Amino acid sequence: MPVDFFVDPGLGTDPNTKDVDNITLSYTFFVSKQPEGAQDLARFVDAKPNAVDGEKIFATRCAECHALDKNIFGPALGGIVGRAAGSAPAYPYSKALMQSGIVWNAATLDKWLAGPQQDLPGALMPFSLTDPTARQDVIAYLEAQSATTAKNIATASPVAAPGTARN
Ligand code: HEC
Repeated sequence: MPVDFFVDPGLGTDPNTKDVDNITLSYTFFVSKQPEGAQDLARFVDAKPNAVDGEKIFATRCAECHALDKNIFGPALGGIVGRAAGSAPAYPYSKALMQSGIVWNAATLDKWLAGPQQDLPGALMPFSLTDPTARQDVIAYLEAQSATTAKNIATASPVAAPGTARN
């Protein structure tokens, strides 16, 4: 059972934790009362990016704002891997994204999705995906899609600026 444990460096400077100089991790395992209802944790054992899971994450977390083939509230994401940031035709991007010089790949997408405003102050995506496994999976899905959907975007129709709705 792999466990990732992250200690915030702020622990060293926060007055509330100034007397902490030891951290002890302790786990207690209990026999499951409902083993048949247990979640499949296999993905933690072999945490390779999984595009099939990524497609579900896209549908539940991204699709309210993004489609692959057209701009909706967010820009069209088909062909995003390998594309320059801020380049979906007719989408009214923030200056921050337009001028970022980013080219989207697995690493730049991971950083963006973890916290768009931390990545690029002034960026307007009001959403972040904090689970690193979910980020890997959705990026794998976008990579798989990029090959097939890039060519369709040029014909997508423009939509109203998201900035007008938010201001
Ligand atoms: C609540 C709406 C919303 C959600 C949910 C959302 N986004 Fe966004 N996204 C946006 C907006 C708005 C922008 C444009 C940001 C800007 O112009 O600064 C954007 C921009 C992006 C970009 C940059 C695109 C480009 O052409 O440079 C990527 C990549 C992206 N989103 C991926 C995702 C993924 C993947 C998810 C789901 C895990 C997601 N977004 C969820 C609203 C959203």
